[in-house]
Amino acid sequence: MNDPNIGRMVVDEHELQQRIRDLGKEIAADYDANPPLLVGILKGAFMFMADLARAIDLPVEFDFMAVSSYGSSTRTSGVVRIMKDLDLDLTGRHVLIVEDIVDSGLTLAYLRKNLRARGPASLEVCALLVKEGLQKTEPDLKYIGFRIPPKFVIGYGLDVDERYRNLPFIAEYTGSSEQRLT
Ligand code: IMP
Ligand code: MG
Repeated sequence: MNDPNIGRMVVDEHELQQRIRDLGKEIAADYDANPPLLVGILKGAFMFMADLARAIDLPVEFDFMAVSSYGSSTRTSGVVRIMKDLDLDLTGRHVLIVEDIVDSGLTLAYLRKNLRARGPASLEVCALLVKEGLQKTEPDLKYIGFRIPPKFVIGYGLDVDERYRNLPFIAEYTGSSEQRLT
């Protein structure tokens, strides 16, 4: 895509796919006799979820949840609203949350608390990206794809105003910050 707002490459397509294959193997080995229920957080995680699931050689199941944070989209307030809830009951399930990116960690803290209350047998997180140095407390992430610098990034599910989600790589966004706020 010839777009001047697509900035420096952060993780290229090859690195992404290679790391996701390794994460899939690790998850398959860890869960083995207890195939997890993958809970994808929409919309950002849809692409990661699709590739990750194909890299896990276990009979996994899927569910999705959509959340939105109040306030600006570049700084979450920690107040999270559930826009679409899960279809499945989590009682006794081995739940693996699949998240696109952990910035402040507030969205994840909320999700973890909310899902924990539903009585899963276990609850872990697989985050593709973690921004370095921004979390107030170290979030307990069992699987991490890449740690990246604290810049606003786009691609591979991540958007600005619903655009750029289909880029097969992760890049810095160099457009104006007003556009990010919508
Ligand atoms: P947190 O609550 O601050 O950790 O924010 C997490 C959510 O904000 C993610 O699930 C994304 O939807 C969004 N987000 C955070 N950083 C970025 C970014 O660099 N690009 C696109 N979306 C982001
Ligand atoms: Mg977003």
